[in-house]
Amino acid sequence: MHHISNIASEVGKEITIAGWLYNKRSSGKIVFLELRDGSGFMQAVVSEDVVDEATWKAVGDMTQESSLKVTGTVTAHPKKENVFELQVTHIEIVQIAQEYPITPKEHGPDFLLDHRHLWLRSKRQWAVQRIRDVIIRSVYDFYHEHGYVKVDTPILTPNACEGATELFDIEYFDEGILHLSQSGQLYLEAAIMSVGRGFDFGPVFRAEKSKTRKHLTEFWMMDAEAAFVEHDENMNMQEALVKYVVSRCLENCKVELDILERDTTKLHGLQDLPFERLEYSEAIPKLQALGSDIQFGDDLGADDEELLTKDSAVPVFIHKWPKSIKPFYMKVDPGNPELVLNNDLIGIENAGEIIGGSQREDDYETLKTAIESHGLEGPEYEWYLDLRRYGSVPHSGYGLGLERMVRWVSGVEHIRETIPFPRMINRVRP
Ligand code: 4AD
Ligand code: MG
Repeated sequence: MHHISNIASEVGKEITIAGWLYNKRSSGKIVFLELRDGSGFMQAVVSEDVVDEATWKAVGDMTQESSLKVTGTVTAHPKKENVFELQVTHIEIVQIAQEYPITPKEHGPDFLLDHRHLWLRSKRQWAVQRIRDVIIRSVYDFYHEHGYVKVDTPILTPNACEGATELFDIEYFDEGILHLSQSGQLYLEAAIMSVGRGFDFGPVFRAEKSKTRKHLTEFWMMDAEAAFVEHDENMNMQEALVKYVVSRCLENCKVELDILERDTTKLHGLQDLPFERLEYSEAIPKLQALGSDIQFGDDLGADDEELLTKDSAVPVFIHKWPKSIKPFYMKVDPGNPELVLNNDLIGIENAGEIIGGSQREDDYETLKTAIESHGLEGPEYEWYLDLRRYGSVPHSGYGLGLERMVRWVSGVEHIRETIPFPRMINRVRP
């Protein structure tokens, strides 16, 4: 079997492509078929003078999304570089599709989401899922090249990692209420005391009432954690990761970014520039000067994130936030007990927060007090405190939101297009 993605090496040969009919245009004795086979899209040219009668009839019968096997000779496009066509000699229909609900005309988002199982076949959706795959692969490669070990963390957990208000609960046999994981971080902290540096990559869940273009209730997070790494080095790793992932996408997703009409100037531009680092206490007056009504002690809103990054060529780290608005596990800033050694990384081009990270509190007493003051004390946190009882070390980590990263790189407006089957407050089907 031949694949469209390898077609450049097949020029002059007769090959067969198995796939689907994406689109059909006819001009009398010649019909142009747009084929897709999963690996790509290409045009096949059928001319009545060349093909047998059965094939010509099949061309007339075939509907959008009919499945077929098309045989023909590969030719290079006379004018366009790197574009190839199939001069068809024979077609075998596998199935004639019923009238396809998604046509080349415009459909509303609800209609498309109701048909997500079919919408995935559209060119743009195909491109986004491929970019997602390249991002996943490049994250694995980045960490393996840096000596990190992939450690799987559980999805069913009695612990609240990121605050008790955004938890999904489930009844678990005789054990009472468990939650779906919000982040594997706490477990990863235990694991790196064994393997030194580790990462996980899996689905996490937030019962978040946010109905925005950047929020899902089920999304994929990559958490990374490393022993003996402190705040500044933690940000260095995040910067290196983001640059690596972006460069791999630029290298491997040219076709996809083209389909999405993504202007990649800024993505190319950030490779050689250091990311900006702004302390929270510097960000607030800067935002106020730009017209925001934010006050010290407030979380940044989406509009604040946009204000801070709109003229920036590079993502911006906002670091050292007030302890009062952040989770219990973040290490208190030795220079100011009201602050913690954490960061958000805000992407450019309205990407919003793509990473959240921090150095972790490694002092037993300080951590115990923080857990209690968040109302989380109890047996579930004893194992986490053990990590500070037995050979505690400075350590840091962060979590990258996969769909936020896919949204930024691919340039799609809404996060619902970045995951095959999105889960949002008002959407769980199909
Ligand atoms: O900032 P967050 O909440 O950080 C954590 O969960 C840490 N425990 C991670 C760690 O230190 N290991 O989430 C991390 C990232 C965010 O920066 C954002 O990219 C993404 O996860 N994220 C979401 N993505 C889609 N939908 C949501 N509702 C998201 N909430 C967070
Ligand atoms: Mg965050």
